[in-house]
Amino acid sequence: MKGLLAVVAGTVVAAAALLVLFDARPGGAIGGPFRLVTGAGQEVTDATFRGRYMLVYFGYTQCRDVCPATLNTMSAALARLGPDAARIQPVFITIDPARDTPAVMAAYVKHFVPGLIGLTGGAAELHRVARAYHVSAEPREGADIDHSAVLYVMAPDGRFLAPVRADASAGEMAAALERLIS
Ligand code: NI
Repeated sequence: MKGLLAVVAGTVVAAAALLVLFDARPGGAIGGPFRLVTGAGQEVTDATFRGRYMLVYFGYTQCRDVCPATLNTMSAALARLGPDAARIQPVFITIDPARDTPAVMAAYVKHFVPGLIGLTGGAAELHRVARAYHVSAEPREGADIDHSAVLYVMAPDGRFLAPVRADASAGEMAAALERLIS
C-alpha cells in the first residue's frame, strides 16, 4: 500500500510539473517580449517576427545529442510542409551566451533548415527569456548543459499556441505544425 501511495504521489507531482510547464491560458503564460541579436549581429525583438508563426527552440551549439537531433527533425518537418513552411519562422535561442556568440550561431544554423535564425544576447536577457518560456538549464560537469527540450509554436500575434515534443518524428512534428497553422 505504501508503494502504491508513493506511485500515486509521484504521478501527482509529475502532473503538476507538466501543468506549470504547459500552462497555456489565453494571453499566453509562455513567451513574451525579448531583445536579442542574430548571427549577423542585428538586434531583433519578438515584434520583429509578428505576422508569421514562430517555432522556437532553446539549446546550445556545443550540445552533442539533443539539440542537433531536434534541429534536424525540425528541418525535416518543415521540408515536409512544403510552401506552408514559409508561414513559420524557425528560431534557435541559445542558453549558452558565453560560447554562443553571433558568429558561432551564424555558422551553426547553416547546418539546418534554410532560414533558421539563431539568436544570442546578453546573459541576463537570455536567462530572463528562457525563464519566460519555462526553459530549464543546468550546467553539468565539463562543458555540458542539461536543458529541457521543447519546441514552442507561437502565433503570428506572438501568443503561445502549443508545445511540440522535441523527440517527435519529423512526420509527427509536421502533422502537429500543419494542424496548428491551419
Ligand atoms: Ni541540447
